Amino acid sequence: MAGEDKRLLQVEGLKKHFPVERGFLRKVIGHVRAVDDVTFSIGEGETLGVVGESGCGKTTLGLTILRGEDPTEGKILFNLEKQGMTDIAQLRKQEMKDFRRQAQMIFQDPYSSLDPRMTVIDIVSEPLVVNRLAKRKEIQQRVEYLMDVVGLDVRYLKRYPHAFSGGQRQRIGIARALSTNPRFLVCDEPTSALDVSIQAQILNLMQDLQEEFGLTYMFIAHDLSVVQHVSNRVAIMYLGKIAESGPKEAIFGQPQHPYTEALLRSVPIADPKIQSGLESAPGEIGNPMNPPSGCYFHPRCAYAEERCREEGPELRELDSQHFAACHLAEKLDLEGVIV
Ligand SMILES: Nc1ncnc2c1ncn2[C@@H]1O[C@H](COP(=O)(O)OP(=O)(O)O)[C@@H](O)[C@H]1O
Ligand code: SF4
Ligand SMILES: [Mg+2]
Repeated sequence: MAGEDKRLLQVEGLKKHFPVERGFLRKVIGHVRAVDDVTFSIGEGETLGVVGESGCGKTTLGLTILRGEDPTEGKILFNLEKQGMTDIAQLRKQEMKDFRRQAQMIFQDPYSSLDPRMTVIDIVSEPLVVNRLAKRKEIQQRVEYLMDVVGLDVRYLKRYPHAFSGGQRQRIGIARALSTNPRFLVCDEPTSALDVSIQAQILNLMQDLQEEFGLTYMFIAHDLSVVQHVSNRVAIMYLGKIAESGPKEAIFGQPQHPYTEALLRSVPIADPKIQSGLESAPGEIGNPMNPPSGCYFHPRCAYAEERCREEGPELRELDSQHFAACHLAEKLDLEGVIV
């Protein structure tokens, strides 16, 4: 397993704030702080699991790292094959060809993410065509190879997405993401729209592909059970911020943030059919346009003190590579689970 010494991606102080406009003159009346000062890194060949409730900013984080959205602030350092560590946040669109090839995304919903008017061959080859990475005559061969890699029959090349099941569609999405021969994939809840019986097949395929092609994954999930199986390290997000991040064993075994403890409450979850405990933190996730004062988690935190309402905690390294944003991290003795 690759160590920290060979980082593929290092994100520093990343923010993505969406302006909220009202009225005929489109006056900006506020901002949604979808990603709000996020810092983490991923080593070459690793899988970082990113977990948090719906609306906490996971998809926006993934899209912003891939420059599908322009960042508001911060650095996205990516170890490009030719140039080495390069701040993607600073690149102009026309300078990004190399990065576009090396970093791709697998989407959450294989029903809506595949254009129903395009055939499989066109869908899978689109990133190659858009980035001018293959000649016309090479495309068919490449797509046939990719179909085989993801376990689809090459005879289906000219079919449209509606002819496929959910699991097959996600295989098409994976083939498309692999078309440019990338090193890094943002996998945005790739199994959450699929039947439980199909989820494990797709996860197994992704793990095989990681090994075969030496891929690095940022694996987004709202479910801890998925992350438990696929991650080396885990980052827990809450309202646009990282609440805690660290090696999987430390996050599950010795959580340092009350939100992580709440999420872990219904783990161990050896059975992926059992939902993890995202509901176990009482109350609802706050509003990213108008987050709570101090620690964003304080209205739901069982341990909150006066200070938590006034002062936002910084993300601090408490143990080697184990970070948490909680004023009381050293004082609390939180309960983990054995993985
Ligand atoms: N293009 C956008 N414009 C305005 N707000 C957005 C946009 N995309 C996402 N948001 C908001 O940002 C927050 C985070 O959304 P998202 O990244 O989709 O969260 P998640 O993937 O964790 O469910 C939500 O409040 C969402 O409504
Ligand atoms: S800083 Fe306070 S409110 Fe926030 S997680 Fe820690 S104890 Fe809870
Ligand atoms: Mg999402």
